[in-house]
Amino acid sequence: MTAAYEVHGDIAVITLNNPPVNGLGHATRKGITDGIERANADAAVKAIVITGAGGAFSGGADIKEFGTDKALQEPNLLSVISTVEASDKPVVAAIHTVCMGGGLELALGCHYRIAAPGCNVALPEVKLGLVPGAGGTQRLPRVLGVEAALNIIVSGEPVKSELIGSFPGQKLFDKMAASAESLAEEALAFARSVADARPLPLVRNLPCKHPQGDAYFQFARNMVKGMAKNLPAPAKCVDAVEAATKRKFADGMAYEREIFINLMWTPESRALRHIFFSERAASKIPDVPSDTPQRAVKTVGVIGAGTMGGGIAMNFLNAGIPVTILETKQEALDRGVATIKKNYEAQVKKGKLKEDKYQQRMGLLKTTLSYGDLKDADLIIEAVFEEMGVKEAVFKQLDAVAKPGAILASNTSTLDVDQIAAFTQRPQDVVGMHFFSPANVMRLLEVVRGKATAKDVLATVMSIAKKIRKTAVVSGVCDGFIGNRMIERYSQQAGFLLDEGATPQQVDRAIEKFGFAMGPFRMGDLAGNDIGWAIRKRRAVERPDMKYSRTADKLCELGRFGQKTGAGWYDYAPGKRDAIPSELVNKMVEDHRKELGVTPRKISDEEIVQRLVFSLVNEGAKILEEGIASKSGDIDMVYLTGYGFPIHRGGPMHYASELGLFNVEQAMKRFAKNPLDDASAWEPAPLLSRLAAEGKAFA
Ligand code: NAI
Repeated sequence: MTAAYEVHGDIAVITLNNPPVNGLGHATRKGITDGIERANADAAVKAIVITGAGGAFSGGADIKEFGTDKALQEPNLLSVISTVEASDKPVVAAIHTVCMGGGLELALGCHYRIAAPGCNVALPEVKLGLVPGAGGTQRLPRVLGVEAALNIIVSGEPVKSELIGSFPGQKLFDKMAASAESLAEEALAFARSVADARPLPLVRNLPCKHPQGDAYFQFARNMVKGMAKNLPAPAKCVDAVEAATKRKFADGMAYEREIFINLMWTPESRALRHIFFSERAASKIPDVPSDTPQRAVKTVGVIGAGTMGGGIAMNFLNAGIPVTILETKQEALDRGVATIKKNYEAQVKKGKLKEDKYQQRMGLLKTTLSYGDLKDADLIIEAVFEEMGVKEAVFKQLDAVAKPGAILASNTSTLDVDQIAAFTQRPQDVVGMHFFSPANVMRLLEVVRGKATAKDVLATVMSIAKKIRKTAVVSGVCDGFIGNRMIERYSQQAGFLLDEGATPQQVDRAIEKFGFAMGPFRMGDLAGNDIGWAIRKRRAVERPDMKYSRTADKLCELGRFGQKTGAGWYDYAPGKRDAIPSELVNKMVEDHRKELGVTPRKISDEEIVQRLVFSLVNEGAKILEEGIASKSGDIDMVYLTGYGFPIHRGGPMHYASELGLFNVEQAMKRFAKNPLDDASAWEPAPLLSRLAAEGKAFA
């Protein structure tokens, strides 16, 4: 049963019941139309209330039906709304907690609406690259006015019901209930009060105009274009709302439908929907069931108050979880705490954080020089120097003092988590928690699963990640885990492109035009070119055969580590972050080509983008095949949330699938023939070849 039907005196109540958010799946939709029919056939019933069980009125479409035939199977949402509108007896929506997307569209089709305070009201379709598809763009402006409605539709963000209720002249809610608890009773009373009202009011009959008309919509279009340059849906929201002001209701509905269907087929919407599902799927680990018991995490210890330790601590303080930071020296502690304070104070100054909240957070922070103070911590995250010897000392100490069952995590970015676990007598409690810098800002958290990591440790870490608002992706143990292992290939290509004839500016410009937040060279300057230098030195020992451009080493030999030294691939004016092309670097690159005996050639932007992106794809395919990542969507989430991959392209694996893996493989074979490139890197991953041959995609 996904919609219950009950009669209370002379009022029929249809209660949507499709947990968790009463999604409007087929059975629920059928439940509504059946209920309306039954109530109209029952002479004892005078009016009908539609409400939702549990924690929602309705969250909209049932995501389980997305992309399946069931989503359109009759009665589809448009038919449900028509049935509601056509009911001879008044239909009252009793709205609470969550009223979004199709849920709001359904409510707008009812004759009356009563809402409890505290309800999140939204039309979030734009976040999936769509416009609302069941009348939202035509009805919402009629009850809220064009500007407020367009704001809700274009932003996709929720607005609280009480705010809407206080909006002058609004017709969305006919009545505000005193509280969520009294809503059911108040809705029955309201339904009785309108039982005999005729004709029944319909939102579709309300007028819809904007006093400035064309000028307003031109203004709105400009605003939206500036905000969403790579996404078509926001501008289409403006078109649809404008149609509500200019066309007859039925024509506006047809226009909304047309836009909705066209957007459904755009690569941008496919990318956003892929991200929506991948994000949800990332938190599910195939062999760790959702009912796996979790360990309580009430207090956290952080070892090391450097760049990462401080940021990691802030995440937990922000979530109201007490943190104790441990260092070897008082000055290091003082420095770390000062940085945390500086970060918070900057937020207070910008008005992003209230002074009392800041004090509250700092009140949760303790510092110590003694391991004994970590004996009660439920989770301890190590962020000390990246050297196995230091990690060994720390984990042996932790093993000695941490309470049984405490989770011992390492933030290592390159070291073997299994080896770290083996320093303890409790490898099952050891896990990698690889944060990205700045750790208090970046959304990505790679959760590194060791050979021995216990399932309840994984389940706990995934859930704590949600609490500190991170997108957690599970990675197996390998050098670089998912993200850094792939970016090594990308950096390798960026270097070859210089050797062959491109400038750093050209490479950055091409990939930024593709949509990356930052090209590889600007990125290197921001992160510090010395980090890659250290990794390459280690690689030279481990894998002396690995081919790469020496330009990056030469840059570092000049002391040009990036923004922090005032110079890197680019020049920087003191105190500024604008990347200024450097004559010295361009000369260095040219000289390097001469040393190699290379005649520079003109490289197209297309080749630059393909080589950079396909290098990620090929390594990603290997990662998938080796089981380091359990799904291609996980790899996409890593790149979208940690490496600035353009959202509208859906991540490297999704993007490759959209292009067709056959085409991607062909390009790789072409690149492998370039004598200045690394043919072994372009050897297509067997998984990629197999899928390409079968005409399949990664997902
Ligand atoms: P950092 O050098 O800024 O900080 C390390 C801190 O650890 C220093 O404050 C040092 O005093 C302290 N420390 C060293 N030995 C210690 C010990 N035995 N006990 C207690 N404290 C000790 O280094 P950073 O950048 O914060 O890196 C820390 C870890 O995080 C490394 O494993 C690194 O690979 C990893 N990581 C770094 C990222 C970055 O972008 N910086 C990104 C992701 C991970």
